[in-house]
Amino acid sequence: MAAKKKAEDFSSIPVNKLSPEEAAAELERLAEVITRADQAYYEHDKPAITDAQYDALRRRNLLIEKRFPKLKRKDSPSDKVGAAPSTKFEKSKHAVPMLSLDNAFNDEDVFDFEKRVRRFLGLGEDEKLAFTAEPKIDGLSLNLRYEGGALKVAATRGDGETGENVTGNVLTIGDIPTALKAAPDIFEVRGEVYMSLEEFEALNERLERDAGEEAKTHEPFANPRNAAAGSLRQLDAAITAARPLHFFAYAWGEVSKPLAETQWDAIQRFKKLGFKINRLAKRCESVDEMLAHYRQIEAERATLGYDIDGVVYKVDRLDYQQRLGYVSRAPRWAIAHKFPAEKATTVLEKIDIQVGRTGKLTPVARLTPVTVGGVVVSNATLHNADYIEEKDIREGDTVTIQRAGDVIPQVVEVLKEKRPKSAKKYVFPDHCPVCGSHAVNEVNPNTGKADVDRRCTGGLVCGAQAVERLKHFVSRLAFDIEGLGEKQIAAFHEEGIIKEPADIFTLRARQEADEIDLYRYDLDDKGERKKDKNGKEKPPTNQKSVQNLFDGIDERRSISTARFINALGIRHVGETNARLFANHYGDFNAFYSAALKARDEESEAYQDMLSIDGVGALVARGVIDFFDEEHNRDAVDHLLKEVTPEKAETVNASSAVAGKTMVFTGTLETMTREEAKARAQALGAKVSGSISAKTDYLVAGLKAGSKLKKAEELGVAVLTEAEWAKLAKG
Ligand code: IVH
Repeated sequence: MAAKKKAEDFSSIPVNKLSPEEAAAELERLAEVITRADQAYYEHDKPAITDAQYDALRRRNLLIEKRFPKLKRKDSPSDKVGAAPSTKFEKSKHAVPMLSLDNAFNDEDVFDFEKRVRRFLGLGEDEKLAFTAEPKIDGLSLNLRYEGGALKVAATRGDGETGENVTGNVLTIGDIPTALKAAPDIFEVRGEVYMSLEEFEALNERLERDAGEEAKTHEPFANPRNAAAGSLRQLDAAITAARPLHFFAYAWGEVSKPLAETQWDAIQRFKKLGFKINRLAKRCESVDEMLAHYRQIEAERATLGYDIDGVVYKVDRLDYQQRLGYVSRAPRWAIAHKFPAEKATTVLEKIDIQVGRTGKLTPVARLTPVTVGGVVVSNATLHNADYIEEKDIREGDTVTIQRAGDVIPQVVEVLKEKRPKSAKKYVFPDHCPVCGSHAVNEVNPNTGKADVDRRCTGGLVCGAQAVERLKHFVSRLAFDIEGLGEKQIAAFHEEGIIKEPADIFTLRARQEADEIDLYRYDLDDKGERKKDKNGKEKPPTNQKSVQNLFDGIDERRSISTARFINALGIRHVGETNARLFANHYGDFNAFYSAALKARDEESEAYQDMLSIDGVGALVARGVIDFFDEEHNRDAVDHLLKEVTPEKAETVNASSAVAGKTMVFTGTLETMTREEAKARAQALGAKVSGSISAKTDYLVAGLKAGSKLKKAEELGVAVLTEAEWAKLAKG
């Protein structure tokens, strides 16, 4: 006989079996649990439960309400768009973007990095090339702007272009001087805010002790980095003040006067100005020396008292840094050499299939939760069917998983000796688990080989793809709409309020026309808005968050062409390629019509697209196929009625080559071709690989061949290297 259930616990009873009393109790429990999860997620930056668990709770709540509409609570979570949007801090645009770093995972990657730098700069093997090596602090980066020696603005990194203004909180951090003597008039210093391990433990103990009284708002942090982030992003500066935060300076943004000639001297300058710099920073003259210092830091890691996750190498000479510049979001002159991933052993309970926005079926391992490097892991990626096949991964297996910094944990090994007899070989589905369409391995046009990934062919009919595309649309590097995150999108999609991107922009109008009701709050028993004594409708309690949402949406009615293109979720077109297209075509409509013309591979439009440095046949195919689909064109057309993509800014509008299309050929003597191209791009030129009637300049070095001939035939202006060098100076 089944054990009798505890009186209050109805969570395992299916919705259609609940009695009204049980349903009421369940709704009460769900309201509480969901509110707590929202707070943990939105206000404390620390999800208490997984997204899947959260969605399941919300779904159950909704189903119970559907079955017992009268029992719906006034504080029902289904009336909330989500927790309060994080309009908590003012935005702050960085004068100089805050970049991230490329990673090296082993010695070879570091040797390659050094070779790349030498090649770009055209340095011979015996020419001197020094680097600095210093710990990569596992905290959050911060930009401090001083004007006339006074701290004016402190901002978090945000998306690299715009962060949050946290000045008030930063004033409480002891390591950060509020006034500087002998600094340039405009001086931006950058570094890492972090919490020591000891202080992190103490803080968590304190939070746990207080948890009795106020369990909801005082949950412990998962690791020191979250603790530092959570503490810095407190609305109440008094709370930040009570949390021990520290700061190491290691970089800079806008400065009105050069700081030094080398990275090393710049850091020493920080020290003189009163900032803490890391004592393990070292100047190295060779890769061998860099690697030796890496091992040294790795050996000291456990006794440092704060978390680091690798070593950062930076080219020492600042004139070299300047010439190397950056690609996308990472400098060519620096790299982060990561420490090896941490591993743990656990049981793989089940293999689930997730369907992404492009239909890709990704197998996910559901694990018995295990702690890896201080973080509880219960899911890991299994990559694709081949990976499972190769390692013969089965449900029920004991497996080794690894987690490297911020990367998704992965299953790396199966302990076959621990395999239960009943474990069966995993059969990868040939149908989409969400919509039931066939799942196939596509053929890559470049290689003619079948792709390793299996994809759902359901396109628009696949609910999973639709939701994932919408989530991508609002993601941080795309539309990034304040108050409209993944959860709200999923909820709106499920309710049928948002089916395609344009629907986001009609929410306000539809609300005003009473076609939808985002304020289903404060309704009376008859389902009507509550009235006050005078018979006037009471303002709904969540009016503010809905208004904030509308405002957040309106703010994005004008958006950069690069973000707009990225948001569309075209196969093989992410942030970097979206930027290439935006810069090449200048505005969205030019890109759109070129994509339609490029359907014909013989066309000039197709050749022109391929001439973009960095765009190959696969990417072009992605674009063409996307606009070939009528439903995609419809979705874009609807969206263009609501949103205006801004003309792409020319990076350096004042330069002589801004907006011009340039081709480089032959051997250059004063800089490598790679540097010349990068320089041209930094000056706002479009660099192309082939000559056409659209080419404005050909820069011809020594031994220029067929390109020079073609340029002369087409009457394209040809520059010598000296003429180019003059333009490139600025
Ligand atoms: S230099 C242009 N140096 O790592 C390069 N970054 O993945 C700017 N970080 O956002 C960064 N320690 O938050 C640099 N010694 C160090 C660092 C460091 C930690 C972080 C920083 C940055 C991230 C890049």
